[in-house]
Amino acid sequence: MTVRAGILGATGAVGQRLIQLLEPHPDFDIAALTASDSSAGKTYREAAKWRIGEPIPETVAEMTVGRTDPADVPDDVDLVFSSLPSSVGEAVEPAFCEAGYVVSSNSSNARQDADVPLVIPEVNHDHLDLLEVQRDERGWDGALLKNPNCSTITMVPPLAAVDDAYGLERVTVATLQAVSGAGYSGVSSMEIIDNALPHIGGEEEKMEAESRKLLGEFDGAEVHWHDAQVNASCNRIPTIDGHLENVWVDTVEAATVDGVTEAMAAYPSLDLPSSPAELVHVFEEPDRPQPRLDRDRGGGMAVTAGGVRETADGVQFNCLAHNTIRGAAGASILNGELLADRGFL
Ligand SMILES: NC(=O)c1ccc[n+]([C@@H]2O[C@H](COP(=O)([O-])OP(=O)(O)OC[C@H]3O[C@@H](n4cnc5c(N)ncnc54)[C@H](OP(=O)(O)O)[C@@H]3O)[C@@H](O)[C@H]2O)c1
Repeated sequence: MTVRAGILGATGAVGQRLIQLLEPHPDFDIAALTASDSSAGKTYREAAKWRIGEPIPETVAEMTVGRTDPADVPDDVDLVFSSLPSSVGEAVEPAFCEAGYVVSSNSSNARQDADVPLVIPEVNHDHLDLLEVQRDERGWDGALLKNPNCSTITMVPPLAAVDDAYGLERVTVATLQAVSGAGYSGVSSMEIIDNALPHIGGEEEKMEAESRKLLGEFDGAEVHWHDAQVNASCNRIPTIDGHLENVWVDTVEAATVDGVTEAMAAYPSLDLPSSPAELVHVFEEPDRPQPRLDRDRGGGMAVTAGGVRETADGVQFNCLAHNTIRGAAGASILNGELLADRGFL
C-alpha cells in the first residue's frame, strides 16, 4: 500500500528532515505541504530556506505550499505529519483529526493528554491501541499520535532496557543539546557561540513527564505512568545536531556494568522500514558516544550509549541520538509506519 502523506510545518527544521526522509521512502508519497500564511501560495523552493546538505528533492521543489488548514489538504491524504510550533499544533491538529485525518505529530501539545498515545515504537507500541479510546471519547474519524520530545527519545530506549533488567527507582539526567533542537529561529549565534545555556524552557518538565508516560503500562483503557522519580537538567551547547545526555539511574535490583551493557545491546528493534538494525549500540570506549561521530548511526535512527559505570545505587551511562531524525522527523515517520502496519490508516 502506498500512503499519501501531508506535512504540516514543511518549511521548518523538522519539516525539511521529513521531506529528506519521506522522499525516498518505500511506502510513503509526499502529497501535500503546508506552512504559515506567509509561505502559502509559494513553491516549496521559494518558501523554504533549505538547510540540509543535499539538494531539495526535485519532486518537492516545485510543489505549492498550502495553508495549514484541513480545507487546503486533499481528502485522499492518508496520513499527516505535523511539525508545527506547539502553540499552532494545539489549535490545528484537533481540527485535522476532526476532519478525518490521522496525524503523527512532533509538537509538544497534547503529549501528556490521557487519551493521546505517546509512542516510541520499539519501547511501547502497545500504547497505540489508546487510539481506540481516543476515537470513542472524541468522536474523531481521524486520530492523533505523538512522538516524544527529542531529549526524551534519546534516553528512553536505554532506560527501558535497564528497567526490564533491574527496575527503575530514580533517574537523573543532564543534557548537552544541539542548536537544531530549537528550530531555525531558536537560538541566535550571539547567544550560543563560545557559550553554553544552562536552561531550555519547559524541556526539563517534558523529559520528566514524557519518560514516565512512555515507560508506563497500558491496561487497555489508560496508561499508568511509571512511578520512577525523574529529574532533568537541560543545557544547550554549540553543536548542530545530536543530543548527548549523562544519565544516573537508581535501580530496584543491584545492577552490574556487564548486565546493563548486555540489556541495552540486546534491546530489540522492530521490522519497520525506518527501524535501525541495532536500536541501542553500546560503546566500550569511554569517550563515546560523541555528537559528530555517532549521531548518524543507523541512518540517524539508532541510539548510542557508553560510559556505563556502577554507582552506589545503580548505574550511570551516557547516551546520544540525532535530535531531528530519531528525535523528531524519523520518530514521526516510524510512528506513521506503525500506524500503517497496525491498520490505522
Ligand atoms: N528541532 C527539533 O529537534 C525538534 C525535535 C522534536 C520536536 N520538535 C518540535 O517540532 C515542531 C517544529 O519544530 P522546528 O524545529 O521544525 O520549528 P521551526 O524550524 O521553527 O519550523 C516551524 C514550522 O511551522 C510553520 N509555522 C509557524 N507558524 C505557523 C502558523 N501560525 N501556522 C502554520 N504554520 C506555521 C513554519 O512555517 P513558515 O516557514 O512559513 O514560518 C515552519 O514550517 C515544534 O513543535 C518543536 O517543538 C522539534
